[in-house]
Parts: sequence; structure tokens; C-alpha cells
Amino acid sequence: MFNYSIKDASLTNKTILITGAGAGIGRTAAITYAKLGATVILLGKTVSKLEAVYDEIIALGLPQPAIIPLDLKGATKQNYIDMASTISGQFGHLDGALLNASTLGELSPFTQINEEMFTDVMNVNVTAQFLLAQALIPTLLLAPKASLVFTSSGVGNQGRAYWGPYSMSKFATEGMTQVIADEYDTSTLRTNAINPGATNTNMRSCAFPAEDKSEIAQPEDIMPLYVYLMSDDSVDVNGQIIKAQ
Ligand SMILES: NC(=O)c1ccc[n+]([C@@H]2O[C@H](COP(=O)([O-])OP(=O)(O)OC[C@H]3O[C@@H](n4cnc5c(N)ncnc54)[C@H](OP(=O)(O)O)[C@@H]3O)[C@@H](O)[C@H]2O)c1
Repeated sequence: MFNYSIKDASLTNKTILITGAGAGIGRTAAITYAKLGATVILLGKTVSKLEAVYDEIIALGLPQPAIIPLDLKGATKQNYIDMASTISGQFGHLDGALLNASTLGELSPFTQINEEMFTDVMNVNVTAQFLLAQALIPTLLLAPKASLVFTSSGVGNQGRAYWGPYSMSKFATEGMTQVIADEYDTSTLRTNAINPGATNTNMRSCAFPAEDKSEIAQPEDIMPLYVYLMSDDSVDVNGQIIKAQ
């Protein structure tokens, strides 16, 4: 695992947006950030899942979260602009954004990749990330120090047979991370990406249904890197693609 000791209250007074906060790694990251003092903004597709995370955070007596229900597949540029202006209106600025939500699509031989599925994966994993980042950067720049974190994968810089659109989308994610990091290198915004590694979630089960789930990491196990990149300990880290495991 990434070697970092999580410090109590290290995210106090930070406002952090997490996409895909209703399930899997995003859900665990949202609860972890809240436990460390952050006010979390939970963005996701399925409202009931976001509400369950909201209720869990409130039941623990942690800072009250906010919920943004949004399907990244159909969202427009204006949706993201409105979202960013709601966030700056309500919170003043954003200290961190974890762009975690993505879709696997279907694993298939390259010549059989369905065009509609290809378009859906690119919409959610690339276009939505681009529009989200574009809309959020001005709000992130209002913070004294801000962290934008994308999510890549082991197939994000080394292609793998049958992982077609998902793999290509993660190459684009790594490219986007480096472009933004370079452009804002002298600013208060740092931009990095996490490669979570094999982690027990719904997405992982879809890709490897027969795998022994006790052999792979749980979302809680990979949190040191997720916390490090949102904490002030990483202020000088920019443009990196970092493995959580
Ligand atoms: N798990 C792994 O082994 C692994 C390995 C490498 C990289 N990753 C990356 O890690 C990130 C998190 O994956 P995970 O394993 O936690 O997956 P997951 O359990 O499938 O969770 C994905 C999350 O993204 C949300 N989401 C999917 N499509 C969306 C859309 N169109 N609009 C809004 N939200 C949407 C889902 O919301 P709903 O539940 O409402 O659909 C869910 O909350 C992804 O970027 C993934 O590529 C995971």
C-alpha cells in the first residue's frame, strides 16, 4: 500500500467534492474524508445511494454533507457550470475534488466493440471529467490550496486486450491530469491521478466475477493515498499518477 499515516482531523475545514460517492471507492473516500473533518459534497447517479452515505455521515455526528444527483452520461456543460456556481455560492470555494466516478462498459474483442457502448464510456469517463474539471477549476482556485484528483487504472498507460474503451478512456484521463497540472504548475492548484489497483467493488466484480474477493484490497485499505492527496502534506505534488497499492 502507499505509505502514508493518516492524521486525525487532517481535513478539518476543507470542502471536498467526490464523484461516484454512492458506492465503491468513492463511498469509502467520502466517509473517510468526513471522519477527518471535511465537509463532503456527494455527487452521483443514484440518489438513494447518496442518501444512504449522507445518513451514515450524519449518524456519525460528522460535518453535514451536501448531495448533488447528476448522471455524468447525460449532463451538459451548463449542468456543470450551474453545479460549480452552487458550490461557490454555498461554500465559497472548493479545497478538493476527487473525480472518481467512471464506467467500465463491456470487455470485448476490439473488432466487436459496440459503438454506442464506446460513446457512453467516453462520455462518462472522458467528456464528463473534462467538463467537470473545466467548471470546477475556478472554484478550486478560490481556495488557499486546492487538490484536483483524477482516477486512472492499471490499463491507463498500458493497453490490455479486451479492455478497449475503458482503457482508452483512462489513457485520456492520465493525459488530462498532466495537461492541467502543467498549466497550473505555478498556481495554488495541484492535479494528480490515482491508480487504485485491484479493489473489491461492483466494478471489479463485473470485470473479474470469479475472483476470490478476500484476496484483493478493500476500499478502506487504499485510503492512505486518497487522504494524502487531499491533505496539505501533498501541496508540492503535481502532475503525478500514483498507485494506491
Ligand atoms: N475497483 C477497482 O479494482 C478499480 C481498479 C482501477 C481503477 N478503478 C477506478 O476507480 C474508480 C471507482 O471505481 P469503483 O471500483 O469504486 O466502481 P463502482 O463500485 O462501480 O463505483 C462507481 C461509482 O461511479 C458512479 N457512476 C458510474 N456511472 C456514473 C454516471 N454516469 N454518473 C454519475 N455517477 C456514475 C456509480 O454510481 P451508481 O452506483 O449510482 O451507478 C458509483 O458510485 C473508477 O474510476 C474506476 O475506473 C477501480
